[in-house]
Amino acid sequence: EKENGDLLSKSFQDIISTLPEGNSWGFPDPLLQYHGFWHSSVFLQGILSAQQQFQAQPADIILCSAPKTGTTWLKSLTYATITRTSYDDSTSPLLSKMPHDVVPFMELDHAHFSTHRHLGIPVLATHMPYSALPKSVIDYGCKIVYICRDPKDSFVSLYLFLSKYQKSQNMQTFNLDEAFEQFCQGVCCYGPYWDHVLEFWTASLEHPDKILFLKYEEMSDDTILYVQRLAEFIGCPFSSEEEEKGVPEKIVKMCSFENLSNLEVNKNGKHRVGGTENAHYFRKGKVGDWENWLTPEMAARLDQITMQKLSGSGLTL
Ligand code: A3P
Repeated sequence: EKENGDLLSKSFQDIISTLPEGNSWGFPDPLLQYHGFWHSSVFLQGILSAQQQFQAQPADIILCSAPKTGTTWLKSLTYATITRTSYDDSTSPLLSKMPHDVVPFMELDHAHFSTHRHLGIPVLATHMPYSALPKSVIDYGCKIVYICRDPKDSFVSLYLFLSKYQKSQNMQTFNLDEAFEQFCQGVCCYGPYWDHVLEFWTASLEHPDKILFLKYEEMSDDTILYVQRLAEFIGCPFSSEEEEKGVPEKIVKMCSFENLSNLEVNKNGKHRVGGTENAHYFRKGKVGDWENWLTPEMAARLDQITMQKLSGSGLTL
């Protein structure tokens, strides 16, 4: 394995030295453009490593998303749904563990450990674009759940998340206007945002039985309905007895922003990847908070880009 790792970092160095560099959003290293998408070098190494080493199994469920679109929420809902016969809302590991610690992140947690799968349940998450997913995920037809969100809220969430991280590391924070400009140009972690969404959207139209495409706003509107759809899609629909007992409602309540964000682990714990404070993953959890951060002109500009980029796709955000 070590030899493999050495070879990988050598080929990684060869690859990154040739890649276009983009704005760093105030971090020491520039983002790197790889096959049309921008990545930090750490995540890019994870992607390349996953592409080379990760072996999916047919029953794997892959939760996919661009950053700050509801990944943490989707992880908790999926985990609670799949484990509901082992745990309930008073015993679930989600009460003492951060959702990122119960559903691993492919690029960082799992890329190097394909042969030692320590998955309690066959669920993994990734921010990779559809076109970058390890081949075995596609070949096996693994079920994929994708969540996306209004780009205005995603941008604000991303900007504030990175700013908090920068402050916690005593780094200078990046300017909102500059970050906005970069986001509009597509230069952000796993961006361009719209391309990320469109790849999964198109794939979901081609393979509706394999890809469930969700929107944060619709899920906020009627979370119970979407948890039922999610359960059905991943092959563990709620029985009528469970429905009568209010199991979907209990899962939704346990995974709600209000509940998760008030748990000790999520208020004061740290996430093992990079030691990020768990609380940073629970900011406000509202639809439309962009209004408090973007001027009407900024909002109109993002809406305009969204319209142009999605035009003809049948998707609206
Ligand atoms: P805000 O910054 O707008 O509050 P991700 O999980 O992909 O990193 O996305 C983070 C966003 O999801 C943050 O949005 C966060 O507050 C919100 N979020 C986290 N947990 C949530 C939950 N249980 N329900 C709804 N939104 C949640």
